[in-house]
Amino acid sequence: MGLRTPLTERLGVPFPIIGAPMAGISHGALARAVTEGGGLGMIGVGSTDRAELIAREARIASDGGRLRFGVGLMAWALDDRPELLEQTMAAKPALVSVSFGSPAPYVERLHEAGITVASQVQSTARALAAVDAGVDIIVAQGTEAGGHTGTVGTLPLIQLVLEAVDAPVVAAGGIATPRGVAAALAAGAAGVWVGTCLLACPESASRAQARDKVLAADETETILTRVFDVAQGIGWPETFAGRALRNRFTDTWHGREEELDGDGDARRLLADARATGDYDTAYIYAGQAVGLVHRPVPAAQLVRNLGEGASSLLAERLEALLVDRPTRWPDNGAIV
Ligand SMILES: Cc1cc2nc3c(=O)[nH]c(=O)nc-3n(C[C@H](O)[C@H](O)[C@H](O)COP(=O)(O)O)c2cc1C
Repeated sequence: MGLRTPLTERLGVPFPIIGAPMAGISHGALARAVTEGGGLGMIGVGSTDRAELIAREARIASDGGRLRFGVGLMAWALDDRPELLEQTMAAKPALVSVSFGSPAPYVERLHEAGITVASQVQSTARALAAVDAGVDIIVAQGTEAGGHTGTVGTLPLIQLVLEAVDAPVVAAGGIATPRGVAAALAAGAAGVWVGTCLLACPESASRAQARDKVLAADETETILTRVFDVAQGIGWPETFAGRALRNRFTDTWHGREEELDGDGDARRLLADARATGDYDTAYIYAGQAVGLVHRPVPAAQLVRNLGEGASSLLAERLEALLVDRPTRWPDNGAIV
């Protein structure tokens, strides 16, 4: 059985599943595999990425113009780096997300180019601001999510955002199996936006050592922390910390960010560890759903499993749950 939502209609994809943009991880190969599996794959563009990356990875994601894809940008980085928006528009993606900061200055230009605009939000206020700015798809990103995020859990957030806005709402954060997809759709989401479950896919741009750490980690091993941004001197707004696997660096520095800011040795240690792939010190951004990632499944197969699995679950569960009579409550409220 197939799935139809405002997202599948708008994006012309079989499954309401978006492969999250993940800087340094979701390049063209992963985005393409997600789209080939029936979702929409996105290329993640980091604040320090070279603008040339966008055209190169877009060629791979679109398989030379054959497939749709999306690009994810960080709003806070665009003021200083307008070329990232220019190059994104030139690559002709179907979807662009502008997250972590106000999308308002960019929406009109993207719409003029015929591009659908999404934005990840972490509160009701941000959802309402995104709708005001003309954003087409509101992505409610819970704190379970890997990478930079807010502090409200996905379940309360999607309920809040679904009640607050009329635009299609897509759920992000902690979704990694057909059960998670079915739960989000049953609650009223138009789709899901998944990142962590793709981290161990062979098409991801991460190193083999990082993929092994992802496969080995359980759901209790992540931390929401600013230490990696502080130690790299990256200009992330303080309201967005990043969820990563806990390691020796977070154990040493989380809670001591001010001290870390002035510590040149710690900064060099992190830079060296990143260069050599030493993940006891370097970061691996990942969400709580990391505990559900057990095998390095190809991304197209993973997306197909999510979509097909969610549609059978919904069909089975709804049939089993719904009874053909009105619910009756005893008058006196007694348990019967
Ligand atoms: C490794 C990693 C890198 C990420 N990088 C970005 C990014 O560059 N841009 C962005 O908008 N979101 C980024 N995110 C957040 C995702 O878009 C998304 O919100 C998240 O992966 C969804 O939750 P999940 O990880 O539980 O599936 C990243 C997430 C991860 C795990």
